[in-house]
Amino acid sequence: MTKTLAPKDRIFVGLDTPDIERAVSIAKSLVGAVGGIKIGKELFTAQGPDGVRLVAGGAPLFLDLKFHDIPNTVAGAVRAAVHLRPAILNVHASGGRAMMQAAGQAARETAEDLGVERPKVIGVTVLTSLDAQDLEEVGQRGPAEDQVLRLARLTQDSGLDGVVCSPREIAAIRKACGPDFLLVVPGIRPSWSSSDDQKRVMTPEEAIAEGADHLVIGRPIAAADDPLAAARRITEDLSGTLVN
Ligand code: C5P
Repeated sequence: MTKTLAPKDRIFVGLDTPDIERAVSIAKSLVGAVGGIKIGKELFTAQGPDGVRLVAGGAPLFLDLKFHDIPNTVAGAVRAAVHLRPAILNVHASGGRAMMQAAGQAARETAEDLGVERPKVIGVTVLTSLDAQDLEEVGQRGPAEDQVLRLARLTQDSGLDGVVCSPREIAAIRKACGPDFLLVVPGIRPSWSSSDDQKRVMTPEEAIAEGADHLVIGRPIAAADDPLAAARRITEDLSGTLVN
């Protein structure tokens, strides 16, 4: 179960670049030092499924494409995505119950057909770039924290495995959705790194203590002069002991 994960397996490194050579080189340098790689829309759109295969290279993959469409279309996208063997993939929870159920069913059935492990399917609740006024403009009921909890509960009720959430949402979602709901958390900054454009950050240790399962860490590792050293330093911070 996730709670017994080794510190390094908590970490998914976000590779936000359309540059395939750079992405492959960073991913290769991190093999065995982190839990996996997160690939999102930028790299996927620039380099396609072959690019994803090349970069992930067999490492656990979080395919962060945030599907949001009618249930039938999302189910088709999930079936196609499962061929890339992701460990985790995601959809927008605001796509609704039927869409999330279709996504979960497509993941189960396709994994079974292929004889591979079923990817965890998680929901995106409220994008952290949206504030209360943005929500009101698109007709969603705020405050944002209430909408996050509403969508997290709907995600769980639709049979999905967990959600992506910001560090400050961890405690409330953990309380509402219980210990087995997977919480995957970006917005993580070690105390020794720059916060870049992230406004509300938590250190890896704080986020795990709050109840996060996996941490998505991008620039503190991927943009470091030595990504492997940065990943190891974070793992050391997490475990409180030196790793080899
Ligand atoms: O470089 P950094 O650690 O900020 O990267 C975080 C990753 O997590 C990026 O891929 C970013 O798109 C993603 N993310 C985020 N905040 C959210 C949702 C996703 O930073 N609320």
